[in-house]
Amino acid sequence: MALRTVLVDDHPSLRKVCRPYTEFGSRLHQLLDDLKETMLAENGVGLAAPQVGILRRACVVLETNVPEGEQEYFIELVNPEIVSADGEQEGGEGCLSFPGRYGIVRRPQHVVVRAQDRNGDFFEVEGEGLTARAFCHEIDHLNGQVFIDKAERMLTEEELAELYGGDEEE
Ligand code: NI
Repeated sequence: MALRTVLVDDHPSLRKVCRPYTEFGSRLHQLLDDLKETMLAENGVGLAAPQVGILRRACVVLETNVPEGEQEYFIELVNPEIVSADGEQEGGEGCLSFPGRYGIVRRPQHVVVRAQDRNGDFFEVEGEGLTARAFCHEIDHLNGQVFIDKAERMLTEEELAELYGGDEEE
């Protein structure tokens, strides 16, 4: 595994529609491992291939809705599609590609995603709350869409300080 550089701000790779995977070999496996390692190192809850310059439809999301005492775990998504969405949530959202910036983004409260795993097998996974938000955010990345374009508004410095305790970087 290796850390990859996360592209930021107006890097053109963040605005490209990514191509699907048709081969499920070692290059994809290495990428997924690297995405997880990089995401953990940067304290994110999701990371998509174009954020590290790979214009392919793969991303990882951290499932944080786990029973108390159980460990959060990664969900690897290759060629993911949202197949159903319901409810609505409005909340703060950030992105490792836009450090220090947070916006209010409206998302579904619950989604079902159909994707392939690292070996090409199809599966469905549900996301609720923060996980639904992360699925939508990461799949947007695969379509060249970033949250600052969808945000109803960006949070001010004062709001950030209130939310995150003022002296923290993020
Ligand atoms: Ni992001």
